[in-house]
Amino acid sequence: TYVIIQDELVHRQDATISFDDRGYYFGDGIYEVIPVYNGRPFALNEHFQRFLESAQKIDMPLAAPVDKIKSLACSLIEQNNLDNGYVYIQMTRGVAERNHLYERDLTSFLTGFTKEMTFPRDKHNGISLYATEDIRWLRCDIKTLNLLGNIMAKRKAADHNCEEALQHRGDVVTEGSSSNIFMVKNKNIYTHPANNFILNGITRQVVISLAGDLKYNVIEEAFSLDDIEQADEVFITSTSAEVTPVSKIQGTIESSYLVGPVAKTLQEAFYRTTN
Ligand code: PDD
Repeated sequence: TYVIIQDELVHRQDATISFDDRGYYFGDGIYEVIPVYNGRPFALNEHFQRFLESAQKIDMPLAAPVDKIKSLACSLIEQNNLDNGYVYIQMTRGVAERNHLYERDLTSFLTGFTKEMTFPRDKHNGISLYATEDIRWLRCDIKTLNLLGNIMAKRKAADHNCEEALQHRGDVVTEGSSSNIFMVKNKNIYTHPANNFILNGITRQVVISLAGDLKYNVIEEAFSLDDIEQADEVFITSTSAEVTPVSKIQGTIESSYLVGPVAKTLQEAFYRTTN
């Protein structure tokens, strides 16, 4: 298998990374996870638009023009004969002696790999969420490598036999550890607005657009723990989870749900767009 190192594909066993990469010292970098269906990347432009925005938000120059990075990702899919799974692209601020202050002349360091995966569509029939306080920083809109809050939430969820976390800031439901959260009440679909408190998921954006096509009313407004407790349906979205219904929430709140018609309809609509 091949991986991306800077501007080329190299054999995985030949790939080396510097000890002094700022990604290791500071988590000073960004990434994207792009799904691949039947050998084709899904929403490639949307993912690279977000990558570009993440880079701009942290004042990091691109390692190469965005079209070059895009074509590297596509070549990697091809070279690795990836059918279904994802391509991971990461860019750190580069190599420098450890110092909080970054200089602007560093060379951003690009890496990437592919992962073969069967999207777990058979398991898409009701997962459990563990509700826990969102302890992350205030720029969750940036897809940064700094994921400590997210991974702590994920571990906590798993320790309670839940597949995913539900993070909330005080009373407000924000998002999962690596997914966005939706609820349905009286046929209206609610999800947290795309601001600094959540990552604006590409799957989230696709699902909102599909829901609009299907004449659902989508309300991008913050909702509370009480609201989600009273919801008719809950589901999550992400690159790997696609559209996954939620059957149970525990932790800060306790509630259960049936897999409802809205989640099912959006799930089917989403699967169709990936064919
Ligand atoms: N995670 N929110 C967070 C915090 C995420 O990390 C992710 C994605 C999402 C959903 O975004 P998208 O629909 O673009 O995948 C929401 C990826 C998959 C990951 O870190 O592996």
